[in-house]
Amino acid sequence: MFSTRGGLLAGAILCIAAALGPSSARADDAIKVGLILESSGPFASQARQIADGAKAYLKAHGDTVAGKKIELILKDTGGAAPDVAKRLAQELVTRDKVQFLGGFVLTPNALAVAPVATQAKVPTIIMNAATSIITTKSPYIARVSFTLPQVTAPLAEWAAKNKIKHVYTLVSDYGPGNDAEAAFKKVFTAHGGEIVGSVKVPLRNPDFSPFVQRIKDAKPEAVFVFVPAGEASVAFMKSFAERGLDKTGVKLIGTGDLTDDDVLTAMGEPTLGVITSHHYSAAHESPENAAFKKAYAQVAGTSLRPNFMAVGGWDGMHLIYEVVKKLGGNVDGDKAMAFITSGVTIQSPRGTISIDPTTRDIVQDVYMRKVQKVGGQLYNVEFDKVAHVKDPGKS
Ligand code: PHB
Repeated sequence: MFSTRGGLLAGAILCIAAALGPSSARADDAIKVGLILESSGPFASQARQIADGAKAYLKAHGDTVAGKKIELILKDTGGAAPDVAKRLAQELVTRDKVQFLGGFVLTPNALAVAPVATQAKVPTIIMNAATSIITTKSPYIARVSFTLPQVTAPLAEWAAKNKIKHVYTLVSDYGPGNDAEAAFKKVFTAHGGEIVGSVKVPLRNPDFSPFVQRIKDAKPEAVFVFVPAGEASVAFMKSFAERGLDKTGVKLIGTGDLTDDDVLTAMGEPTLGVITSHHYSAAHESPENAAFKKAYAQVAGTSLRPNFMAVGGWDGMHLIYEVVKKLGGNVDGDKAMAFITSGVTIQSPRGTISIDPTTRDIVQDVYMRKVQKVGGQLYNVEFDKVAHVKDPGKS
């Protein structure tokens, strides 16, 4: 009796589903996007930026594309934990049957997932991790964020052309730091500059004071810095101010990770005048950025400022929506990658971006910025840009 009723009920549901047809979204055949993020631990704030950027995209554009519901599944690696990232990717692919992977604040986590993406043929969208080599590790990886060589090269050229002749470099001792240091040295020396000293600091809990003292003693005209956005940039700025480097006339230049919008206000006055190069500033003026900031505030609240990672989350979802639209809701890994490498272009809050068909890496404008007060608040104010920059790390 019970099973008969169950059978009838199941049959009725099937009929309703059939009548609704392919254009109506149903949770059971949703497009699942697995976001692997460092949501607890020292990069929690940055991971939240990516997640909120992705959620904001869904909020602003609806959660249904080509008749399919888009479902985000968030997984936490707990920090830099490649083994955990790989296991989470495997679970997302085999158990949750995700059609896309994405997320990744940190390079080591992104690299660990590459073999899973390849084996499962799951398109994987890098929303921050910025070491050049990442996209070479799987034909199913594409990046919508940036690479360190891409944003560093314009700054090195700017420095050499703006009467800075002697530079000390300080970078975090892992993939993106190595990329930033190499790119800065190459371009700066090619334009006649001289590197007077270089130091690499550990990724975990760095104590910057001895390094900052060493830089002070070397008396360079400028120090070039890459540290991952967040706690490390706050700690560096604190040491820089405590050791009085901001008063000695040593110029501070770096990639925008240093003066990240997420922590710029907290870092305060010592950041005034710092020159950086990066792909996104919350102060960027465009209708797309205004719409993005409005949607972000609806998800994250008005007291939080979106940063470049939030834009990575937003644009990553934009790319995924375009793929789903193009494939009429039937996502297949190879067809998705064929579309992603067909010269796709997106209007991002940072400007126009595109994916390089051969490297699957992002091509975008890189902005020169200076920290200034706007309406009483600290912002990275853009004063110049280099258009359509590819990742020089791969050429
Ligand atoms: C990275 O690990 O690739 C990474 C992390 C934080 C940044 C930039 C790059 O700000």
